[in-house]
Amino acid sequence: MGILLEIKGLHVRFILDGVTVRAVDGVNLEINENETLALVGESGSGKSILGISILRLLPSNTEVRGKILFNGLDLLRLSEDEMRKIRGKDIAWVPQNPATSLNPVLKVGIQIAEPMEMHLGMDRKHALQKVVNLLRFFDINPAEKRVNEYSHQYSGGMRQRALVAMGTSTKPKLIIADEPTKGVDASKKVRVVELFRKIKSENSKLSQLIITHDLPFARILADRIAVMYCGQIVEVCETDKFFNEPLHPYSKALLDSLPSRGLKPIKGHPPSMVNPPKGCRFHPRCEYSFGRCLNEPPSIELSGNTVRCWLYD
Ligand SMILES: Nc1ncnc2c1ncn2[C@@H]1O[C@H](COP(=O)(O)OP(=O)(O)OP(=O)(O)O)[C@@H](O)[C@H]1O
Ligand code: SF4
Ligand SMILES: [Mg+2]
Repeated sequence: MGILLEIKGLHVRFILDGVTVRAVDGVNLEINENETLALVGESGSGKSILGISILRLLPSNTEVRGKILFNGLDLLRLSEDEMRKIRGKDIAWVPQNPATSLNPVLKVGIQIAEPMEMHLGMDRKHALQKVVNLLRFFDINPAEKRVNEYSHQYSGGMRQRALVAMGTSTKPKLIIADEPTKGVDASKKVRVVELFRKIKSENSKLSQLIITHDLPFARILADRIAVMYCGQIVEVCETDKFFNEPLHPYSKALLDSLPSRGLKPIKGHPPSMVNPPKGCRFHPRCEYSFGRCLNEPPSIELSGNTVRCWLYD
């Protein structure tokens, strides 16, 4: 199994009225071919910004440094035209909010057909026939009728499945899904799990980056878990190992905050990304912190199964 995506020393900063927000601060991360990687962490830790930076869809007031190698090609060095060819074809994005991500004045079928017309050179008629098959595959029925409907005629779950149909229609190599279970009630989560399994069953070579707060969901789908804290990845490990023997004190705290494990809140608050704590960024909240943690950032290289914590030096 080769590496599909390799992020090296990635920094993303927002410059706002003289203030710098370090949303992603020195991330190294690999996604293998055919792998599902879940990116987890508290709100505001930089998960979505990391996902969006892979697609180069960041707002203009950002500074980006580092490398994002996709099949060895550095996405950050491509022209906008070259990037457009990759976005929507080789890398698909399923956004956080299905309600606002479809165009309300265009028929859903036409929107799903567009990437196939643009990237695969299909004509409209042929693409719409494919869309009907896709709608059927993703349980949006009756497909012949739904293809001509608008997004307001779809339920929330159908809109999400339509976005997934759009993202997967060109058989991408990587799909990045941002919070696919957000706002989905517990009884319907099983359908989202089925949806992602179905995507894999269609395309066994596909890699997936699933950005989520939902640890039980990550456990069911992911091969590996990457934990993000204050703009940095602090632990990367295989899913079973993460849930059975997490190493980083923040990973342990995240798991202890789950209802099934006692609902113990993580003490303190997520730190500022403008002036992050010196040393280990988790030290003000960490019950294991010792002298070194206060001044020296753990500088352990993260790749494969690793943890950014002085306890393991
Ligand atoms: N357009 C922006 N301008 C300035 N700062 C931003 C902007 N978008 C995000 N940020 C900041 O970047 C940091 C990372 O945000 P991001 O949306 O990636 O977090 P997240 O981990 O996805 O959170 P959530 O789980 O709530 O979706 C946050 O501190 C946020 O305030
Ligand atoms: S480096 Fe120190 S403060 Fe940071 S997580 Fe490890 S023990 Fe805690
Ligand atoms: Mg987010």
